[in-house]
Amino acid sequence: MIYSDGEALLRKKIGLDPNSIGSDAIARAIEQRMLECRITNINSYLEIIQTYPQEWDALIDNLIIPETWFFRERESFKYLQQYVVSEWLTNHKNSILRVLSVPCSTGEEPYSIAIALLEAGLNPANFHIDAIDISQKCLLTAQRAIYNQYSFRGNPLSFQERYFQRHEIGYHLHEPIKSKVHFMHGNLADPDFLIGMPTYDIVFCRNLLIYFDITTKERTIRILERVLTSEGLLFVGHAEAGLLLQSRFVSIRHSLAFAYRKSAIFHSLLKPKEHKNSHKNYRLTHSIRPIIDKNLTQNPVNLNVNNSPQHTKANLLGTAKLLADQGHLPEAIQLCNDYIKQNKVSVEGYVLLGQLQQAMGNNQESLQSFQKAIYLQPTHREALTHLALLKENQGDVVSANILWQRIQRLQN
Ligand SMILES: C[S@@+](CC[C@H](N)C(=O)[O-])C[C@H]1O[C@@H](n2cnc3c(N)ncnc32)[C@H](O)[C@@H]1O
Repeated sequence: MIYSDGEALLRKKIGLDPNSIGSDAIARAIEQRMLECRITNINSYLEIIQTYPQEWDALIDNLIIPETWFFRERESFKYLQQYVVSEWLTNHKNSILRVLSVPCSTGEEPYSIAIALLEAGLNPANFHIDAIDISQKCLLTAQRAIYNQYSFRGNPLSFQERYFQRHEIGYHLHEPIKSKVHFMHGNLADPDFLIGMPTYDIVFCRNLLIYFDITTKERTIRILERVLTSEGLLFVGHAEAGLLLQSRFVSIRHSLAFAYRKSAIFHSLLKPKEHKNSHKNYRLTHSIRPIIDKNLTQNPVNLNVNNSPQHTKANLLGTAKLLADQGHLPEAIQLCNDYIKQNKVSVEGYVLLGQLQQAMGNNQESLQSFQKAIYLQPTHREALTHLALLKENQGDVVSANILWQRIQRLQN
C-alpha cells in the first residue's frame, strides 16, 4: 500500500524524498505505528501525528536511518585537524572555535570531532560543539554516550582505549569528551533552522542531504551557507559532494575530505551577472541515492554476496550503495563489479565503483573507474571532480587544471 498523503506530509515537514528510502519502507513504518496505536484508519492516524508531537516523534524514529560510527570518513577529521593546526590556531589565538554537527544521530560524529580537536592541540575551553538531530531517541542515546562495537568500524581504533572505559554493557565515553558536546533537537528541513543564532566556523552536515527532495536540498544548502562564517568549512558525506558542485561552496580540493568553503575565489570565478543572481541559479545534480532499491533500506542486507543469486540486475547497485553506507566496502565493490559485468555502459556503476575504490585507498583503480565513467559520459561533473581531486593528490597539477577548466566550462 502506498500512503500518498503520509508521504506528502513527510516531504513537507522533514523534506524526505520518498524515493530515497522507498514507498514500501514508508508504508511499513506507518503501518507499524498504526498497529501499535491500535488505529486502522490512515486518515485518523495522519490527524493524530499532526496533533500529538510524541506520535510524530515515534513515526520519525521508525523511519530514519541512524547509521553512523566514530571517525566515519576519517580523512575529513584529519583535514579538520590540519586546518586547526595550520590556520585556526595561528589566526585565532584567543577565539572559540564553534562547531556544528547536524545531523548528529547517536553522537559518534560530534564526539569524534571533540576527540580530533583535542588531539590537534586545541584547549577544551577554546572550542564549542553543538550537535543537532531530529530524532529524540537518537539524542538520548547520544547523551548516554555508551556504545557497542558497531560504533567502531575500520582501523585504526587506538582512540577507543584512550577515550572509552570498557564495561559489561559497552564502551563508556570519558566524561571530559562527553561534556564538550551540547545536544539539541532540531529539523534541518525547517527554513528557520538556527535563524538568529551565532554562526559556526565548522559545520559537519553528512549523510542527510541524500534523503532530502530536491527543493529541500537546495534550501538546506542555502541554510548551511547562512549558518557558516564567511571563512568557515563545511564537511559533507562522500555521496553528497556532487550536490555542491553548482552551489556557492567550493571544494578545498583535499582528496576524500569532502570539505568545502564559501570562498571569495568562487565569486571571482563567476561572471558578474551570474554572481548577482547566483542564489537563483542553483541546479543540483541528482545524488546517487535514488538508485537504491526501494526495499533495501529497512531490510537487513545479506553480506554473503557470493551466495546471493537473488540480487537482481536492478538492485545490485542499490545494495552496493547500501553496503557502502554501512561501511562494508569490499563487499560493496564486489557487487559493483558484478553490476558492471552485466551493465558494461553504466556510468553510475563506474562512478560508484570509483568512489568505493577511493574510500579503500586504491587511488589508481579509482582513477581508472572515473576515467571510464567520463569516457561514457564526458560531461559527468561528479566523475570529473573526483578525477581532478585524484590528479591533484598525485601531484599532476597540469591534468588537474585541465579537468577543473572542463568542470568550470560545464557550469558556464
Ligand atoms: C545516516 S545518519 C547521519 C549521521 C552522521 N552525520 C553521519 O554521517 O554518520 C542520518 C540522521 O539524520 C537525522 N535526520 C533525518 N532527517 C532530519 C532532519 N530533517 N533534520 C535533522 N536531522 C534529521 C536522522 O535522525 C539520523 O540520525
